[in-house]
Amino acid sequence: METLLRVQLTLLLFILVHLSLHTKSSSQELQIINAERRIDLTSHIVKVFLTLKVKNLGASPASEVLLAFSPAEVEHLALVKAAATTGKGKKKTFVPLDINSVELPDAPNGTKCFSIVLLTPLRKGETATLEVLYRLTHSLEPFPVEISQSESQLVYFRDSAILLSPYHVKQQTTFIKTTSTRVESFTMVEPTKRAGTELKYGPYDNRHPYSYSPILVHFENNHPFAVVEELEREVEISHWGSLQVTERYRLSHGGARHKGVFSRVEYQTRPGAAGASSFKHLLARLPPRVHSVYYRDEIGNISSSHLRSDFLKSELEIEPRFPLFGGWKATFVIGYGLPLEDFLFESPDGRRYLNFTFGCPLADTVVDRLIVKVVLSEGSKDPTAEVLFPVEQRLETKYSYLDVVGRPVVVLEKKNVVPEHNTPFQVYYSFNPIFMLAEPLMLVSAFFLFFVASIAYLHVDVSIRK
Ligand SMILES: *[C@@H]1O[C@H](CO)[C@@H](O)[C@H](O)[C@H]1NC(C)=O
Ligand SMILES: *[C@@H]1O[C@H](CO)[C@@H](O)[C@H](O)[C@H]1NC(C)=O
Ligand SMILES: *[C@@H]1O[C@H](CO)[C@@H](O)[C@H](O)[C@H]1NC(C)=O
Repeated sequence: METLLRVQLTLLLFILVHLSLHTKSSSQELQIINAERRIDLTSHIVKVFLTLKVKNLGASPASEVLLAFSPAEVEHLALVKAAATTGKGKKKTFVPLDINSVELPDAPNGTKCFSIVLLTPLRKGETATLEVLYRLTHSLEPFPVEISQSESQLVYFRDSAILLSPYHVKQQTTFIKTTSTRVESFTMVEPTKRAGTELKYGPYDNRHPYSYSPILVHFENNHPFAVVEELEREVEISHWGSLQVTERYRLSHGGARHKGVFSRVEYQTRPGAAGASSFKHLLARLPPRVHSVYYRDEIGNISSSHLRSDFLKSELEIEPRFPLFGGWKATFVIGYGLPLEDFLFESPDGRRYLNFTFGCPLADTVVDRLIVKVVLSEGSKDPTAEVLFPVEQRLETKYSYLDVVGRPVVVLEKKNVVPEHNTPFQVYYSFNPIFMLAEPLMLVSAFFLFFVASIAYLHVDVSIRK
């Protein structure tokens, strides 16, 4: 009797579990009631803000909302963030939500999806408002591809007038903001309107899942296309009180290639008109209390840099030896020292940690490949890094003068970095202060040995003369 009951119970449980699994996979009766997309094309980084009002029409609760991107977008996607919003105007609050990449085998034409994880599942008939922000790099294509010094830079931007989405979209509008009022051409998808620096696509009603309508906008954009192809930042901790930072840049101008000869006379006499898309100044935002700043390239020190410092920040304005035109490159090194107590702390479990800023100090730049190396002092053990987004991590060892076992180096690497990645990261490690004595002790013993050797030599010398 008892066993029969148990068998029945297990069976019931099995059916229940099966049922819930089944309903979960066939749920997702979501619909987008309203979508508003704002695309900002005023710099060389494409900034998109998307507001989605989502409603659950299905019977079962939905715990995630999917976002779709075309294969070209995924390739250039530097960052996606999402937040749930409640309230309106000044009372609006944002709650950040997690985003995961998901594989949807039935998504057409190579569409990639990300899922936004809701804090509380959306029940039948409920709506939620989500704000999504994403950044695309290398998505403005210069056309013509080559321009002379006196020409303005024109670029192409490709997208869809209709939001790519796995859901039915009831109503939607897209606004595109361009740098200047000079728009050579744009695709019309009725209704399309242009006013000043803004293009409006929509409103469009009732579009099926995965609807797509390609558009091409050709417009003027003379914003400096500052691209750091590679940046290596080395942050070295010395337990004698300082943090030494060395940054090696390989900078290039990612805009339309320069054609013809460069006339410095024209450049200097007609500022603004000549070389409108070139740039000659760069701004590096460094931490406050920075000292011993230097800036040099392969030829030597460059003195044309200006440092402004206050309690909150330091700004270093640097000027390469020549202005950069499309396709031109410059390599240089910036170095500076910082007080260790501003960045090195002790965690509650007794370990030490460095709290520093990830990303690139140069304002408004894209970094194709960023390598951050944190060089710990000799004798540091078990380093672990904590970064807010996925990065590649590995450990190396560095030897400098008097090092015996070498210094552990935590290497963090990330591709496609934008200014939003300038967030704090931490490297935790344990350190035994006895190691601080290792180097002085070695010096002392070296001197002692030298001293003994000299005496011995003198003795030998004397004995020969006798
Ligand atoms: C997928 O590609 C086909 C063929 O190129 C095209 O007809 C269709 O509209 C595309 N669908 C989407 C959702 O882009
Ligand atoms: C470059 O400047 C730094 C810091 O001002 C200085 O220490 C170094 O000696 C200079 N190097 C040359 C080659 O002038
Ligand atoms: C790291 O520094 C930032 C400010 O620069 C601060 O907001 C943050 O709380 C610090 N993190 C830790 C773990 O100390």
